[in-house]
Amino acid sequence: MDMTPETQPSIANTVSSARPLDLAIILPTLNERDNLEPLVERIEDALGISGWEVLIVDDNSSDGTSDEARRLSLSDPRVRVIQRIGRRGLSSAAIEGFCATAAPYVAVMDADHQHDPRLLVDMLAAVKSGEAEVAVASRFAEGASMEEWGRPDREKLSSVANFLARKLTGVDLSDPMSGFFLLPTATARRLAPNLSGIGFKILLDLLATSDTPLKVKDFPMNFSARRSGESKLDRAIALDFLAGLYDKSFGRVIPTRFALFGTVGVIGIGVHMAILYAFLLIVGTNFGWSQAVATFGAMTFNFWLNNFLTYRDRRLKEADKVFWGWLSFIVACSIGAFANVAVATTLYDRGLHEVLAALVGIGIGSVWNYALSSRFVWGR
Ligand code: GDD
Ligand code: MN
Repeated sequence: MDMTPETQPSIANTVSSARPLDLAIILPTLNERDNLEPLVERIEDALGISGWEVLIVDDNSSDGTSDEARRLSLSDPRVRVIQRIGRRGLSSAAIEGFCATAAPYVAVMDADHQHDPRLLVDMLAAVKSGEAEVAVASRFAEGASMEEWGRPDREKLSSVANFLARKLTGVDLSDPMSGFFLLPTATARRLAPNLSGIGFKILLDLLATSDTPLKVKDFPMNFSARRSGESKLDRAIALDFLAGLYDKSFGRVIPTRFALFGTVGVIGIGVHMAILYAFLLIVGTNFGWSQAVATFGAMTFNFWLNNFLTYRDRRLKEADKVFWGWLSFIVACSIGAFANVAVATTLYDRGLHEVLAALVGIGIGSVWNYALSSRFVWGR
């Protein structure tokens, strides 16, 4: 076929007039189908027609976000898609994005239009010129505003958060929980192997992981209302901080999730005892029945608290999933209890002190419980 420039100009001309790829905008998505197309348009309005790409990292959304992203990608090569199956989480989606682009700069932003892409221009300029190593769009900097959940305790909350963030990162930030930031891709990739990637905000994680405090510049933003769909994150920022602090200090010795699981287990013992005594004293049933009720009660409590805390990034929400999760948790605990008793009796028979034998049994049982429930209850 004859492809003279007159008949086939489009590709060659676009490429020659195009600016080289400069910025990748990572959009982690979970059920954001209808938000994608208008957001790409807004990004183009802000950044011009070339020099950027959008990297949609979708965790197998049930609303067809990945299909929609692929549809956009077919007609627009600036849009790229990573569909992940069997993995979940905003942080890990961002990390995946850092590692999947050739652009020298990366930004992370929400796909639901709460972040204004027009800010990207100044953020990129600041990082390119070396004025900042990380540009952060802030809801709390001078001049910022919020359309939604303007809460009265916001100042107080953010000053506590700031204090903790400073302790953690050595950097002064007005909005350490911001989900909208930009940095050189090389920096993100250098830090990526040491990021915790769990229930801990990615920006804080990046800043806390760097050996030397990174130079941050705040950009006041207008935090808009979500365009469509609903928020997936809870606002328990205190938990994120605690998990982050723990992870950075002891996470290598005892993994954060296992520590949480163990803590829940210890609280569960208290719940067990409370139910046991309540039944013996108030209801007055015999010990066997009371112990059985207390065991079930404590397992149910542990399931609930683990679902709420330990696995909050993979929380089971729909009634049927909660039910099956609870049932498999009970089965997992029974297997753990069996391992516990078997190991403890063997050690006791070999002459180990009873307290030690019991403790080793509890340790082994907990590891079993943890391994089984991570895999089968909250494994997806
Ligand atoms: N891939 C992936 N996996 N994306 C996710 C997941 C996930 O498990 N959970 C949420 N997302 C996507 C959403 O689709 C959205 O594009 C973005 O991450 C933010 O999620 P929202 O559900 O909109 O969060 P939010 O509005 O409640 O929270 C925002 O404000 C927080 C500050 O309180 C976000 O910007 C947070 O990053 C920020 O910390
Ligand atoms: Mn949002």
